[in-house]
Amino acid sequence: MRRAIIILPLIIAGSLACRKAEDPPSTPEDYNPEVPWNIDESVPTVDRNPFSKKKIELGRMLFYDPILSSNNSISCATCHRQEKAFTDGIALSSLGVSGKQLFRHSPGLINAAWMPGLFWEGGAKDLESLVFGPITNPDEMGQDLRELENELNAHPKYPNLFEEAFGIKDISRVEVARALAQFQRILISGNSKYDQWVRGENNVSLSNAEERGLELFRQKCSSCHATDLFTDNAFHNNGLDDNFSNTSHEMIFLGRFRITFDSADLGAFKTPTLRNIMVTAPYMHDGRFENIDEVLDHYSSEIKISPSLDELLRDGNSAVQMNLSVAEREDLKSFLNTLTDQDFLTNPDLSDPFLQ
Ligand code: HEC
Ligand code: HEC
Repeated sequence: MRRAIIILPLIIAGSLACRKAEDPPSTPEDYNPEVPWNIDESVPTVDRNPFSKKKIELGRMLFYDPILSSNNSISCATCHRQEKAFTDGIALSSLGVSGKQLFRHSPGLINAAWMPGLFWEGGAKDLESLVFGPITNPDEMGQDLRELENELNAHPKYPNLFEEAFGIKDISRVEVARALAQFQRILISGNSKYDQWVRGENNVSLSNAEERGLELFRQKCSSCHATDLFTDNAFHNNGLDDNFSNTSHEMIFLGRFRITFDSADLGAFKTPTLRNIMVTAPYMHDGRFENIDEVLDHYSSEIKISPSLDELLRDGNSAVQMNLSVAEREDLKSFLNTLTDQDFLTNPDLSDPFLQ
């Protein structure tokens, strides 16, 4: 399998990750974030970045601090807002420092600790290496990493906080990435009505419509939107497009193909989780659908055939439309509503620390 050219910031990040010998001793692990049992036993982490409460708290500050951007006006939370499950409600955002429109929709940050590949086409391998992407991208935060290190080292508060969290005197991009990654790993959503029902908590029961919706979901959707993560963490072409001739912008319109160069991956994108889906419109990698009805229209009758269309959605050379009736759509929506996790959307521990 050939590897695609990965964008520069990721290469830098990768080489930093290998500088293990020079790393300062990390503070002892003092924290094991709780995970609802229907999701997993514990949060997957990376060896070089064991959890601590101080690192998480520092990561939270950095996530909400516009100091990360070149003109100190954009934070991660500008495009990843808690009340929207950490997406931004915009199809293609132009909220970055350049004001230019991005090519992709901001995904929610939900249970990202369990994603082996990040970004819509899986081009980033972990949360540590990913963060240099948005920080340095000229159309997102446009920041020079040296400049960022200087600003943080000269800051009245950060040097102390980094010393307490990582035991270091000189802040470098490595610790910035590690702290941010820790905060994002604890963005765990697992307390929706559906979760409480699965775990038999609080006498929660599903209504008839919600149960019928769940049954339909299991028949038609759960092979890809699988498990209680509601994603199989794999890449599929779900029939949005049938023309993949636009190779501009580093092949961004070609989906997973730009990573694997395998024609079976043309138009394939990572299955997004459906947790909190009713608060994260618009939908799909380019935000093309304004609401859930348009998504259901797509699966119902608009799936486009192409050689890379997922097998589950095809029969030989034709696309298999789901033909959902009006009643079935209502049931599916009732079920999807049970995936909204108010605790996650309002948890003060995940909110902007500068507003508290
Ligand atoms: C200007 C808007 C913007 C800003 C600012 C921004 N992001 Fe994003 N983020 C996006 C977009 C758009 C994507 C999708 C990119 C893609 O997949 O190609 C994304 C994707 C991600 C993902 C991948 C999630 C997944 O499901 O694969 C993570 C994690 C993430 N961003 C974290 C951050 C962090 C941390 C920061 C701050 C350092 C940040 N973002 C700043 C717009 C933004
Ligand atoms: C063959 C696998 C597959 C099946 C079956 C499938 N999906 Fe998807 N779904 C995907 C993929 C892949 C995407 C992302 C596509 C993209 O953005 O290009 C997606 C995107 C979505 C989105 C948008 C999510 C977001 O955050 O933007 C929703 C909503 C959705 N699917 C609902 C459903 C429902 C409801 C069903 C069943 C009726 C279903 N899906 C069946 C693979 C699948």
